[in-house]
Amino acid sequence: MSRIAYVNGRFQRHDLAAVHIEDRGFQFADAIYEVWAVRKGELLDAEGHFDRLDRSLNELRIAHPVTRAALTILIRELIRRNRISDGLVYLQISRGRARRDHGFPPPGTRPTLVLTTKRLDLDAVARRAEQGVSVISVPDQRWARCDIKTVNLLPNTLAKQAARDAGAYEAWQVDADGFVTEGTSSNAWILTADGALVTRPADHAILHGITRATLIRAATAAGYRLEERPFTIAEALEAREAFLTSATNFVMPVTRIDGRPVANGEPGSVSAELRQAYLAAV
Ligand code: PDD
Repeated sequence: MSRIAYVNGRFQRHDLAAVHIEDRGFQFADAIYEVWAVRKGELLDAEGHFDRLDRSLNELRIAHPVTRAALTILIRELIRRNRISDGLVYLQISRGRARRDHGFPPPGTRPTLVLTTKRLDLDAVARRAEQGVSVISVPDQRWARCDIKTVNLLPNTLAKQAARDAGAYEAWQVDADGFVTEGTSSNAWILTADGALVTRPADHAILHGITRATLIRAATAAGYRLEERPFTIAEALEAREAFLTSATNFVMPVTRIDGRPVANGEPGSVSAELRQAYLAAV
């Protein structure tokens, strides 16, 4: 069975699906995206991701191509056609196809809507969580509105590749004041020696992770003390535990930073507990 994608009103074979060369997403990265994890055929944290999608479109003044109800039906149909049990749904909406000009295209230009799916081995993700992952630190070279989930991801891709070149899983980006903003595709957390969960506030310097928001609710309900404040790499190296969150990693322990161990270099019990609390909450 061939993979199926959805592009502007049509389900098509994935290997043949395409957008126009003058699509604003291709020309200017004038597009937003969203990613949902799928577990046993169901979207995780569905409404949170739909809400963030609305916010991204509103912030960039891109029109909604379809209603949330219609989009939900399209996504479910794509999951069905691709027989996805565990995996992810990727959505991209661009400002549409228009003759190349930096300013916005004429009113009424139809936004481009693309949906794809990918299978994920969630057992492999769970095994990775038992091992923990390494991160490196890199300077944050991105723009001033990282809270909007745009496809403008060049700094993220360069940093992710730097991590891979160093044999690490993720890169933690560090701002001009020496504070960690976030990973290239995940949010960053530590557990301090005195038991506080620390993660950067949802300001303009980070993507407001949906996993982050759900975990904040789950962790505070479980009695953890939360401090939404920036932290440094030095503080993370002194921490009791460190971890990252994202739709497809859930809660992933970070055991090494820039080649140095966090605590004893083993995944901690709180990260494991929070991973279970997150999975129980979605
Ligand atoms: N990435 N920060 C960045 C820069 C991200 O790209 C992501 C998500 C996150 C975590 O957000 P959430 O918990 O809502 O997944 C934080 C997705 C998964 C991606 O680019 O594939």
